[in-house]
Amino acid sequence: MSRKRVAILISGRGSNMAALIEAAKDPDYPAEIALVLSNVPDAAGLARARQAGVATDVIDHKPFGTDREAFDRTLDATLQAHRIEIVCLAGFMRLLTPWFVTRWSGRLINIHPSLLPAFKGLHTHERALAAGATQHGATVHFVVPELDAGPIIEQASVAVFPGDTSEQLAARVLEVEHRIYPLALKRIAEGRA
Ligand code: GRF
Repeated sequence: MSRKRVAILISGRGSNMAALIEAAKDPDYPAEIALVLSNVPDAAGLARARQAGVATDVIDHKPFGTDREAFDRTLDATLQAHRIEIVCLAGFMRLLTPWFVTRWSGRLINIHPSLLPAFKGLHTHERALAAGATQHGATVHFVVPELDAGPIIEQASVAVFPGDTSEQLAARVLEVEHRIYPLALKRIAEGRA
């Protein structure tokens, strides 16, 4: 079985990235992490990836200014150069253009910290608490041009407890994120999604 070549795109600490790297250490896992790429030069996850022996690259978005498509074309060229087959967004805090999303359609996935379609966008834990939700969770989905709206691949829920702070809830959700992202990538890599 040939393992699918995967790039993980990050902007921050990279705990989901680390979970994917860990899963891919198993030789039977159907994907290998061939590249970790960040738009933030000092993203903490980059050091973690290097420590794990994974190739890293940085495309700083700042020199591109407002030209999002120019950034995305550079990103696409880098992914092609590494012969990437599947792209995982993992805390990548940048909207991708419809051009890029369409080009990678069916091969571009994201993890979002809510039970989509509830709480698209940012600050999901605070909003779940404010709404009085009793269940919250995380979703891995295909990326489509509309934000957080693509077909769902994996989802897992956690209970919201009375008196939870957003930090406590975020930590509980993060645990399930680290479980479902490797499962979702496995399904995609095996062509079962
Ligand atoms: C996660 O909560 C993920 O769902 C969201 O951004 C956060 C990234 O965390 N998209 P990490 O960088 O993977 O630790």
